Amino acid sequence: MLNQKSIKDLQNKDTIDHYFLLKRIELKQKKDGSNYLSLEFSDKTGSISGNYWEGFDEFLKEAYTGAIVKVKGSVELFNDRLQLKIESATFPENNKTITINDFLPSSSRDPEEMKKEFWRRVKKIQNEWLRNLIQKIFTPEKFERFSFAPAGKLFHHNYIGGLLEHTLEVIEICDLMCDISDKSNFQPPINRDLLITGAILHDVGKIEELTYETVFDYTDKGRLIGHIVIAANWVYGVCSQIPYFPEELQSLVLHLILSHQGKLENASPVEPKTLEAIILYYADELSAKTNAYRQIIQGGSELNSNWTKFHNLINSPLFVSKNPEYYHKNFSLDQKNSEDKKNGNTLFDQFDK
Ligand SMILES: [Fe+2]
Ligand SMILES: [Fe+2]
Repeated sequence: MLNQKSIKDLQNKDTIDHYFLLKRIELKQKKDGSNYLSLEFSDKTGSISGNYWEGFDEFLKEAYTGAIVKVKGSVELFNDRLQLKIESATFPENNKTITINDFLPSSSRDPEEMKKEFWRRVKKIQNEWLRNLIQKIFTPEKFERFSFAPAGKLFHHNYIGGLLEHTLEVIEICDLMCDISDKSNFQPPINRDLLITGAILHDVGKIEELTYETVFDYTDKGRLIGHIVIAANWVYGVCSQIPYFPEELQSLVLHLILSHQGKLENASPVEPKTLEAIILYYADELSAKTNAYRQIIQGGSELNSNWTKFHNLINSPLFVSKNPEYYHKNFSLDQKNSEDKKNGNTLFDQFDK
């Protein structure tokens, strides 16, 4: 357990004697032509960069991304951003009380509860081909990797357990859309088993696209093939091992995986061409964007402003109200004095009986 101020709480002029995870190492040149080290560190709450101006030769020999390092120095403000001025950085020897898990951000949801929720939902799938396919994909070892993985490096659910959390959100949105559609007796109905199978499998390729043992990054396979094609190949292979797996059903499942990012320019090789595929695309977007916006807003607004920093991924800053009580509290008008209320003649009153 770490007993130190977290990165998000650091302030200008703070003295640092901290453990961090080393995220980036770059050798740069000062104006006089000599070298300095530009480094980036992270903990569960965020990351901060720092400059190591002198005496870093020994450190550089052993440095690698993902290492736990002990940093001494101070916090300074440069171009409106906090950064570290490093006096020394070393590698703690055999420190068993500090592990990599002390530095990796993780889902706020209970991992065991999420695993149970996942398997409870799989059990409800009535189509035995699809249930069988899911059970064959998620061997105990693969499921362990799946439930530990982040859903991304930067954008959304980018923390340990994030992939499972995101998958459960997508499943729930898809189930809700089926419920809504069932109310209007839409014919033919949405194929719920197929859609939920797509929701469960759509991002399974991320367990091979990303590396997340220490610093989150893309694997070579991830960069070369991408999670969509990794998942499609995997599902194709498993379907082929299940005798007599219906060919059309296999194509429909593969279509859900291949089209889930909605557009060719979003790296989906085909665009949604079934009702289930269009629902999955929007469910995935809704879960991902809501999480991304939430994280940006949690980062807070700029000083003396109602706006967050400009965010590259959405091409805009986001609005953060300084008066959230107006819409977060149970705000009630004084209805005792309302004539309409007295006479019971609002639409609300009529339909509230
Ligand atoms: Fe995806
Ligand atoms: Fe997704």
